[in-house]
Amino acid sequence: NVLILDFGSQYTQLIARRVRELNIYCEIHPFNKLPEDLSVFKAVILSGSPYSCRNEEAPRPDLSQIKGRVPLLGVCFGAQFMAHNFGGEVASSNTREFGRANLSFIKDGELLFENILEQSQVWMSHSDSIKSIPEHFTRIASTTDVLNAAYKIEGEDTYGIQFHPEVYHSTDGAQLLENFLVKIAQVPQSWTPSAFVDMTVSELKEKIGSDKVILGLSGGVDSTVAATLLHKAIGKNLHCIFVNNGLLRKNEFESVLDQYKDMGLNVKGVDATDRFMDALKGISDPEQKRKAIGNSFIEVFDDEASLVEDATFLAQGTIYPDVIESISVNGPSATIKSHHNVGGLPEFMKLKVVEPLRMLFKDEVRRVGAEMGIDSKLLGRHPFPGPGLAIRILGDVTKEKVRILQEVDAIFIGGLREWQLYDKVWQAGAILLPVDSVGVMGDERTYEKVVALRAVESTDGMTADWVDLPYNFLQKVSNQIINRVKGVNRVVYDISSKPPATIEWE
Ligand code: XMP
Repeated sequence: NVLILDFGSQYTQLIARRVRELNIYCEIHPFNKLPEDLSVFKAVILSGSPYSCRNEEAPRPDLSQIKGRVPLLGVCFGAQFMAHNFGGEVASSNTREFGRANLSFIKDGELLFENILEQSQVWMSHSDSIKSIPEHFTRIASTTDVLNAAYKIEGEDTYGIQFHPEVYHSTDGAQLLENFLVKIAQVPQSWTPSAFVDMTVSELKEKIGSDKVILGLSGGVDSTVAATLLHKAIGKNLHCIFVNNGLLRKNEFESVLDQYKDMGLNVKGVDATDRFMDALKGISDPEQKRKAIGNSFIEVFDDEASLVEDATFLAQGTIYPDVIESISVNGPSATIKSHHNVGGLPEFMKLKVVEPLRMLFKDEVRRVGAEMGIDSKLLGRHPFPGPGLAIRILGDVTKEKVRILQEVDAIFIGGLREWQLYDKVWQAGAILLPVDSVGVMGDERTYEKVVALRAVESTDGMTADWVDLPYNFLQKVSNQIINRVKGVNRVVYDISSKPPATIEWE
């Protein structure tokens, strides 16, 4: 088990991901909330920070129980903090050092740099520099511009590095982390999907016993993997509810429900299309739409949950990025919606919460799912927003508009699959614009809807770039849409990246 102390760097999550890729378990904790039991951690990594360690307001971690006791690696701010705190000099560098650099010196025989050659590329992102290191520190690497690019504290396994090994541009970054964690700290590489499944299933059995658990399935990867883990642990005592809000993709409710049943899940499909459509009637404002959908979901889910007698747990597919955000140095973002509390908590919210995926990243969720034999088509599905097609229909939502968009979307997504482009795209979908434009079909003049197609590449949805889909593919799909979907006479392709645009249009 490895502890990563977070000082608010944008790269902290990346450190955790790189560590997990070495099949080593790690946890991120804010620097000012150290876990109570530090004895479980075999190594500690200090993250970077937007602060300068010379700044009054800079984070000041208490390392007294850590430094010298367990192997410790300070990255960027972490390295500067230790140098500054133990008698070295940190000052603003003449030039801000961002981007690629190459190692020009590596101390002979240094374990941290084993299998890393001079000239190896590292990624710098700092405006402070360690000008001098204290006497009991040894310089172990330099770049052309940065003399103290890495140091070791004599007599202990404490290291500091000025560059970011977690960033892919640091070509030997993974090797450096492996050297630190495996060679120096001797942490076992035993964090594998199958170990996770075994451990989690037995923990869930222990925690839940013969109690009943309710879980809302969405058709997405997270809730499906969470359900499968729970099913392995408690079988039929897991009661899944899959709500059709009428805003899913074409035929999705039926086909996914069948798939869930084939997987042996105890699942109840609830078709609440009319309830959602009534709640959405006449609403054009995107935030209002989201609220109406959120409220309807809570009502429907609550009705269904109260039919399961004696349930004690509510399971959720929360994953690690959400958890990190809620405990981050920068504080939780205000995601708890006020309307959840109107008129007291719904019944299901009084249940105890169980979140079997709360320590996993998305790619780990997929690997765990694959380990349990979940269909790769289900695991590889593109992300799809909770409010569904409602936020891809600009303006008010009607059954007819949903029908049109479902048809368009099915042609586009089906085409991506047929052309083997689906897995190359992070997310794709169609948007129905509130615009009629003129067209001709045969001898007739038409005045019909415009749809936009959107396909993006991304790793986490935070930033995204539009995908350069082949012209002949777009041509084919556009023809099919206009010929087959009544009510659409024009197709456009969205070529904006995020930022400044977003993935959804709302
Ligand atoms: P944007 O549009 O902000 O979307 O670039 C980023 C990612 O988030 C998804 N998204 C949602 N997912 N509920 C969800 O579960 C929502 O309300 C929601 N809104 C946006 C979006 O599809 C994209 O993957």
